[in-house]
Amino acid sequence: MKKLKVGVLASGNGSNLQAILDQSLAGKIDVEVVVVVSDVEDARALNRARTAAVPAVYVPPGKFRTKLEPEIEKQYAEILLTNGVEVVVLAGFMRILHDDFLNAFPDRVVNIHPSLLPAFPGLDVQKKAIDGGVKWSGATVHFVNAGVDSGPIILQAVVPVLDDDTPETLAARILVEEHRIYPEALQLIAHKRIRIDGRRVIADRALIEGEQW
Ligand code: GAR
Repeated sequence: MKKLKVGVLASGNGSNLQAILDQSLAGKIDVEVVVVVSDVEDARALNRARTAAVPAVYVPPGKFRTKLEPEIEKQYAEILLTNGVEVVVLAGFMRILHDDFLNAFPDRVVNIHPSLLPAFPGLDVQKKAIDGGVKWSGATVHFVNAGVDSGPIILQAVVPVLDDDTPETLAARILVEEHRIYPEALQLIAHKRIRIDGRRVIADRALIEGEQW
């Protein structure tokens, strides 16, 4: 089967990128990471890409803290399109993307978020979950729309919030699930096993649970 070409945007450690690279290089998902772009020059994600012989590009984000400068956002889209990217994978990318970028990849930008959306969008969400007193949290893979962590949900995984959790221990428990469901979601997309119906994403989970996976 022809592999789905994905481009990954990452700002930090890149453990989700690593999970996707590992599954991809092991032939477990029909996904090829063709380029990694970061807004942080020394992001470990860039080193992980280089180690896997994937082109890794640092593009300075410009003067804003939570978004890219419009001209720079165009450059991001161009780099991805030039590399033949079909799906844009946000993996710990800490900036908001706007309509011009999203319209270049309609229904083709996905994100992972460390909470059970729509609970706790935004930043510091493990602390928010603990402070909010919830007993369960988790991870969400979703399509990206113009809002913040508000697009249609593809897959979720649940973890318990324990009485003695700190944001760090909860984050670590959630990350384990992130590393499982992000490659799964990309495999579903690669096999065209999902469709968006309004707010809902209908997924054929037989691909995950059955023989083909
Ligand atoms: C992950 O927990 C991811 O869900 C989160 O940042 C971490 C990145 O880890 N993303 C967001 O909070 C996006 N708003 P990683 O760099 O090791 O993949």
